Amino acid sequence: MSADIIDGKAFAAGLREQIAKNVEQLKEEHNLTPGLAVILVGEDPASEVYVRNKGKQTVECGMNSYEHKLDANTSEEELLALIDKLNNDPTVHGILCQLPLPDHLNSDLVINSIAPEKDVDGFHISNVGLLGTGQKSMVPCTPLGCLLMLRERHGSLSGMNAVVVGRSNIVGKPMANLLLRDSCTVTIVHSRTKDIEAACRNADILVAAVGRPEMINADWIKPGATVIDVGINRIPAPEKGEGKHRIVGDVEFASAAEVAGAITPVPGGVGPMTIACLLANTVTAACRANNLPEPEGLAA
Ligand code: GUN
Repeated sequence: MSADIIDGKAFAAGLREQIAKNVEQLKEEHNLTPGLAVILVGEDPASEVYVRNKGKQTVECGMNSYEHKLDANTSEEELLALIDKLNNDPTVHGILCQLPLPDHLNSDLVINSIAPEKDVDGFHISNVGLLGTGQKSMVPCTPLGCLLMLRERHGSLSGMNAVVVGRSNIVGKPMANLLLRDSCTVTIVHSRTKDIEAACRNADILVAAVGRPEMINADWIKPGATVIDVGINRIPAPEKGEGKHRIVGDVEFASAAEVAGAITPVPGGVGPMTIACLLANTVTAACRANNLPEPEGLAA
């Protein structure tokens, strides 16, 4: 194996340490404790784990965590009323509504009812538009985490060929916008792209965000490229015993690591950065709401 491993777990721990110091300072100097409200509708087990981790890490960094667990049958009116209340609560600086929502709720409507300046997910159409036009916005957490790791590795990304595999609203599109803003030459490829492998082989930076286990292997990778694997896929692992699973990325790690210059592992790469960036966005939102200078290194 030749690639350097980009240790997202360690990077995220460092970021959380910095955030905790920023929070301490906001409390001491401005009597301000950033607060994050997380809304969970229904009982999806994976979402419950995410929400629990978000709450735990929010408190560990010294911030206030407000959890709102609603019944799976909650009406749109009830959910919108809660969001309205949180929009108008000055102790709440960030609001996140865990996705996916139950089918009877309109996700776009719900997300677009969050006050844009409290939208720490960066999913509100105002924030999407601000990012797309290069203006100050809330930036989606996973792409922000990827960008911070890329900047740490390369310093300037200017002029690099970046290929983003996947065109989702949560990762692919905002990732492409962030890379463009850092002056990369950006290509988005997806399931209908002709010769997707050739496009990927041109990448100095390859971001894989398709949700297809180990789709990308060494043949797709330019020697020395930096590979960021956003995928988190659960696949059967009979070698570990009957009914067991393991987590893999969108990249076949072992072969890719022979060719790449640097690569994020799964787990322990992008994953831990996502919640760390959510905490960073909450601090950023709290500072902006109070007209205070934003701490360095937290925003894109
Ligand atoms: N579900 C899976 N990932 C996310 C995320 O980043 N934000 C929200 N709100 N829901 C999610």
